[in-house]
Amino acid sequence: MTNTALTKILIFDSGVGGLSILQALQETLPDCEYIYASDNEAFPYGTKSAEFLITRVQRALQVLIEKTQPHIVVVACNTASTLVLPHIRRHFTIPIVGVVPAIKPAAQQSKSKVIGLLGTPGTVTRGYTKGLIEEFASDCEVVSVGSSELVILAEQALRGVSPPQTVLRSLLKPLFDKRQLDTIVLACTHFPLVKKQLIDAFPRRVNWIDSGEAIARRVSSLLDSQPPTTTQKKTTSNTAIFTMQSADLDCLQYILKKFYLKRLEYIQV
Ligand code: DGL
Repeated sequence: MTNTALTKILIFDSGVGGLSILQALQETLPDCEYIYASDNEAFPYGTKSAEFLITRVQRALQVLIEKTQPHIVVVACNTASTLVLPHIRRHFTIPIVGVVPAIKPAAQQSKSKVIGLLGTPGTVTRGYTKGLIEEFASDCEVVSVGSSELVILAEQALRGVSPPQTVLRSLLKPLFDKRQLDTIVLACTHFPLVKKQLIDAFPRRVNWIDSGEAIARRVSSLLDSQPPTTTQKKTTSNTAIFTMQSADLDCLQYILKKFYLKRLEYIQV
């Protein structure tokens, strides 16, 4: 698989968060065809049980893979990836790339060795995430904040409603109160979409780390291709697929077009 123009990549998330991963992918691999799938019927994932998510994500991917026949699947959701990757990798034969909290680079880059972990309630309490902390950040103090409210605020932001600064400040307070903290891991793909607003609500300079570029590098190496030197995005159309029709998707059309997601489809899971 070396011809990126012929490569079809399926990006999967509960909502619009995976667009932050799509953005990184389109910058690195502009010639690939992208299918963006949102399981908006089961959104949000961050508050759902492990049993529910394992069954749901496997079923959704089954339908999506059968329908779209991608070469690679990117599970662009920390909440799902930290839980379902072993199950779905056993079940499907195509390469699956998961998005998990960028704890390793955060621990490497932090000078104070106090780092913040901002994810969903599911992600920050997972055994998988605790394992990442033990393995890569055992010399760090990790302050975790799990918030589904921030996920919903990011969804609204992409529909044109800015998150109130006061709400963001109170969500970030446990991290702000740790005076030595110098690095924050955005461990939910929704959060880079409101990174500017988060920086504005956090009046101290810290290093914000997300997984976008690392995932683009990983996919790129899987495709065994050199990242192109141009950052120009391709202009042919990609497809967005949702698991539920909903009037509020109209508010997303502008943003979907920015990612060349010009076709809109629905599937039943
Ligand atoms: N975007 C997802 C993540 O990276 C989850 C958001 C949600 O549905 O709770 O964790």
